[in-house]
Amino acid sequence: MIPSPLSLTELKALVRTVPDFPKPGIQFRDITTLIGDGAGLSSSIHHLAKIARAKGAQKIAGMEARGFIFGAAVAVQLGIGFVPVRKPGKLPIKTIGIDYTLEYGTDRLEIDPDAIADGERVVIVDDLIATGGTAIASAKLLRMAGALVEDAVFVIDLPDLGGTDRLHEEGVTVSTLIDFE
Ligand code: PRP
Ligand code: ADE
Repeated sequence: MIPSPLSLTELKALVRTVPDFPKPGIQFRDITTLIGDGAGLSSSIHHLAKIARAKGAQKIAGMEARGFIFGAAVAVQLGIGFVPVRKPGKLPIKTIGIDYTLEYGTDRLEIDPDAIADGERVVIVDDLIATGGTAIASAKLLRMAGALVEDAVFVIDLPDLGGTDRLHEEGVTVSTLIDFE
């Protein structure tokens, strides 16, 4: 437990912006500096967990790799399980998978179809929402496995890329801590 969590303004100041990574024209919002700061990391988890708890999360799903950092910590804070949404070829069992696009490329995500009980309320946690491609693919996969997915929580929103609206259209309510226009 932290005595007094950092404010959202203070969290935002800990995110580093790197121009032209991984491609020209992309303003990369880098959480390395946020999680490298003890108060920044614990305060981020505090704020995310408060939202996930209010949403009635029974399990947290986080996307490889940055979603693992925040998602697993939120799950620990809430005393519930964590579902890893993995990049392809990593899980040692027969998976279900889905291809998707993101701001700077395409990829594939896979989960263990037995990771979720039927009707279990799963809240998605990730560091950042941009186009929403990753989160929509994850919601679809989790639902294929039987999850009830109505909420997703992110540290950072890039509202200009429209991910939040796209997720709403898929029936997923989005909560975010900070944004970068
Ligand atoms: C980043 C980020 C989100 C996703 C957001 O992950 O962590 O998962 O992009 O973009 P979207 O809303 O346009 O889908 P990335 O695929 O770069 O992988 P990483 O976590 O391994 O760095
Ligand atoms: N994932 C997708 N777009 C991103 C961005 N601009 N910065 C950091 N992570 C991202």
